Amino acid sequence: MPLVTNDAEQQRYENYHLYPTEGLLNDPNGLVYFKGKYHVFYQLNPKACDHKYKEWGHFVSDDLKTWERLETALEPSLADDAAGIYSGAAYVKDDKLYVFYTGNVRDAEGHSVASAQMWAVSEDGVHFEKLGTMFPHPEGYTKDVRDPMVWQGENGHYFMVLGARPDNNIGDIIVYESTDFENWELRGSMIEGELADVRGYMLECPGFIEVDGKQILMFSPQGLEPDHANHRYENIHNTGYVIGHFDEETAHFTPESEFKEVDDGFEFYAPQTMIAPDGRRIMWGWAGMMTPEREASTPTIADAGWVHVLTVPRELHVVDNVMTQKPIDEILDVTELEAHNLQSTTAVGQYHFNITDDWSLVFGDDLRLERRGDELSMIRNQWESGEYEIRQVNGDVDDMLLIVDVDIVEVYTDQGRKVMTARYF
Ligand code: FRU
Repeated sequence: MPLVTNDAEQQRYENYHLYPTEGLLNDPNGLVYFKGKYHVFYQLNPKACDHKYKEWGHFVSDDLKTWERLETALEPSLADDAAGIYSGAAYVKDDKLYVFYTGNVRDAEGHSVASAQMWAVSEDGVHFEKLGTMFPHPEGYTKDVRDPMVWQGENGHYFMVLGARPDNNIGDIIVYESTDFENWELRGSMIEGELADVRGYMLECPGFIEVDGKQILMFSPQGLEPDHANHRYENIHNTGYVIGHFDEETAHFTPESEFKEVDDGFEFYAPQTMIAPDGRRIMWGWAGMMTPEREASTPTIADAGWVHVLTVPRELHVVDNVMTQKPIDEILDVTELEAHNLQSTTAVGQYHFNITDDWSLVFGDDLRLERRGDELSMIRNQWESGEYEIRQVNGDVDDMLLIVDVDIVEVYTDQGRKVMTARYF
């Protein structure tokens, strides 16, 4: 069964992962179940495999398993979004689908010079009417304020979080509050005095969600120092979460757990979630956080004219104050393996095994997955430099689920507490 049903035969590519057919894909946006359909919008530059221009691409599905590729949902048309419809989220109210996004503006040289928080509304989930800019740019912040996400609080008010780079260059998440969904008041920093060592200079794509009764703040800091000794923050930019509590009176989030990376592999970034009608919290991430050189030399560009994919949809839970992930049941079609046939995992497929011995598997020309005791390592030959890079997790790594696609592998282990994603070629 092809994943994207309406692509021409020769354009069908990945088996389990959503991909663009031309240009560059990045963050998942506006994930929502609306009027009987699942919608995945995403950052798309259809004009080139670079980040100079963005619109919202659109996939729709009845079953979370097969997807239809629709026309672009939102493209630049206003002064405040002239150079790009940047990331944002969806919110359903009064039977209408509202989407919130950041408009990007560039100068004649192509440098980003301004951003605005904007919104649009749809009756059918496909055609949108733009509603314009929501409020003035907050004082004390650089032009880098973006990626709105909206929810309704216990008190009935609406809250919006935004990633922000303040003038002091210490990454921040700011909160707006509205009683009527029209007028938004700035409440200030959500994390003032918190999370000092994981704020970097800018925080992108904040998400505030509830999973199994726990409140989770997920975000993607830019500029963290890598901590190689502990195998943390080793990608260009990284994504993590903290469990804690948001006080609606003070608009302040108090962390009650460590900041943990969501995915310990190579290129996971900018995740978002939706709630399915049965209550499951389902997350997609972008598998494409890499250096510009690596991005520009990704083989799919020469082969097929596009670059980057989304991860598979993952169901989230919280167990003992740790977030766990597993691919949603709808996409699973798993082959059980014994130790003697482990090598078959290097073909496209889904594999489960529970083996206490050490093992090593090779994917394509550049990726090795290795289990030694309670350590699981991903070792990758960076094709543009020829150097090796390692990502590693520790835990109960007997039990493994591998989702192996044409050029990406996702590894789920340690009862879903550890997930590692890597592209391979
Ligand atoms: C994260 C990000 C967002 C921004 C979007 C632009 O990857 O930089 O902060 O809205 O991508 O494409």
